[in-house]
Amino acid sequence: MIKLVELTKDFGHLRAVDKLSFHIQKGEIFGLLGPNGAGKTTTVRMLNTLTRPTGGEAQVAGFDVVKSAFKVKQLIGVSPQEVNLERDLTARQNLHIHGLSHRMEGIKKRVDELLNWTNLSERADDIIRNYSGGMQRRLLIARSIMHRPQVLFLDEPTVGLDPQVRRLIWDLIRDLNHKGVTILLTTHYIEEAELLCHRAGILSHGKLIALGSPQELMTSIGRFVVESLDNGVTNYRLFETREEACNFAQTRGENVRIRESNLEDVFIKLTGERIGQ
Ligand SMILES: Nc1ncnc2c1ncn2[C@@H]1O[C@H](COP(=O)(O)OP(=O)(O)O)[C@@H](O)[C@H]1O
Ligand SMILES: [Mg+2]
Repeated sequence: MIKLVELTKDFGHLRAVDKLSFHIQKGEIFGLLGPNGAGKTTTVRMLNTLTRPTGGEAQVAGFDVVKSAFKVKQLIGVSPQEVNLERDLTARQNLHIHGLSHRMEGIKKRVDELLNWTNLSERADDIIRNYSGGMQRRLLIARSIMHRPQVLFLDEPTVGLDPQVRRLIWDLIRDLNHKGVTILLTTHYIEEAELLCHRAGILSHGKLIALGSPQELMTSIGRFVVESLDNGVTNYRLFETREEACNFAQTRGENVRIRESNLEDVFIKLTGERIGQ
């Protein structure tokens, strides 16, 4: 459904996206994971036809994002990292305008359906300016699927939201996926990628450094971590089995913790850096 072949973007001397190649299958939730500045938004914007690649190519639903940009635009839904709703209009008006711009039929009914789906019906006629961050995100997602796209891009859909609202948005994303929508989402939340994504790609300095299901990625480095505190510094050791981890932990004295590995461990192992920074 989405294909990238050595997709590259330079901003002057800075290479923001560096020869990225991967495919996303129809029906997948694919996560692009990486710290701030890794190149996630730039990648998504190229796939959304909003930023022109410097090199390589990409296709969405069989259409080239440069040569057939107009066609791609019609087929995709986009929920950008920066909330770009009309702040002086109501939720209902925001959705309505989006429907008009896509020359949709049955706009009124679809707007009601989406307001209901995102739990915004009661506040539908309030202007966006007075909405909380979580409500704005939900509306952004509603707007992105208003025209029933088969491919959806969600750039940091839960950034800065409290855990309860994040869960609500995860439910919406899963629901859309069950209805057949292929989803590319970016995140720097480890948990989000682990819980939601069938496969994840890990980006670092514009390069893809790992690709696979969260399970595969975690298994590849070792499923168990022993953290030990030595002179105020936390050391990590990875093990394939819990038994090996326990045996090692016993040799480390008191300040030890055994836990299952996560995608952040994969990132640290591959780059020596942390995602959260
Ligand atoms: N319009 C731009 N002009 C110059 N540099 C940019 C621009 N957009 C992004 N960058 C740079 O490209 C790199 C990747 O940015 P971005 O794609 O936004 O990363 P992410 O979404 O992973 O945080 C960063 O170093 C960022 O500063
Ligand atoms: Mg970004």
